[in-house]
Amino acid sequence: MSTIPHHIAIVMDGNGRWATQRYLPRVAGHKKGVSALRACVRQCGERGVKVLTVFAFSSENWNRPPEEISGLMELLVFALAREVPQLQAEGVRVHFIGDRAGLSDKVRAGLVQGEAATAGNTGLVFNICFNYGGRWDITQAAAGLAARGEPITESSLASALALAHVPDPDLVIRTGGERRLSNFLLWQAAYSELYFSDKLWPEFDEAALDQALADYATRERRFGQTPEQLGRPRKAA
Ligand code: FPP
Repeated sequence: MSTIPHHIAIVMDGNGRWATQRYLPRVAGHKKGVSALRACVRQCGERGVKVLTVFAFSSENWNRPPEEISGLMELLVFALAREVPQLQAEGVRVHFIGDRAGLSDKVRAGLVQGEAATAGNTGLVFNICFNYGGRWDITQAAAGLAARGEPITESSLASALALAHVPDPDLVIRTGGERRLSNFLLWQAAYSELYFSDKLWPEFDEAALDQALADYATRERRFGQTPEQLGRPRKAA
């Protein structure tokens, strides 16, 4: 089995602290975060990762100062317009995951355009979670099934989730030193390996990604089974 994860998901935490440490506005940290993300997309593709999912704006981020929220919205529209041609050239297919109802017409148009421009691509699948929360996703999936009068089972619910087009993440990375999921991929991360980095997201470079991949390669994934069932010797306690 390949030791490269098929699907990596990332909580890109630490942009604000990166900026504050430099006496810059928080939005400057998010801008730097976009550059780190751009490089990470390329590096994941080069290493054979098939799916990358990132948490760009959570359902809870609406509680931030208004100027930071508008800065993030503008950054998304600007970054999309600037980056889509390059993503296109690299064969990356972009999907936006989240509640679009709460977004402005301008932001929604940017999302639709980004998805449409890359819809024919067959390379890395790049899911950008924007106005997303794991609880929102489970709720919208259950509400959709109920409205259609369909039974709620593990498999019907899984197919109604916003990330049903990709397998669950093998590896969830969180930067910025915190060790929690913060409402990210609550359903899909059930069996994911978790990796926490103390690096702030703008500093999460190629070496840091390779360190996360090397750590992942040492993990024993059992999905509830015993080592013996998987034909592996039990590790000493
Ligand atoms: C968390 O850092 C990061 C975010 C809330 C936004 C992540 C967004 C980007 C990397 C760029 C935006 C991406 C797109 C596609 C527009 P934080 O602000 O919580 O940092 P802190 O914990 O240091 O305060």
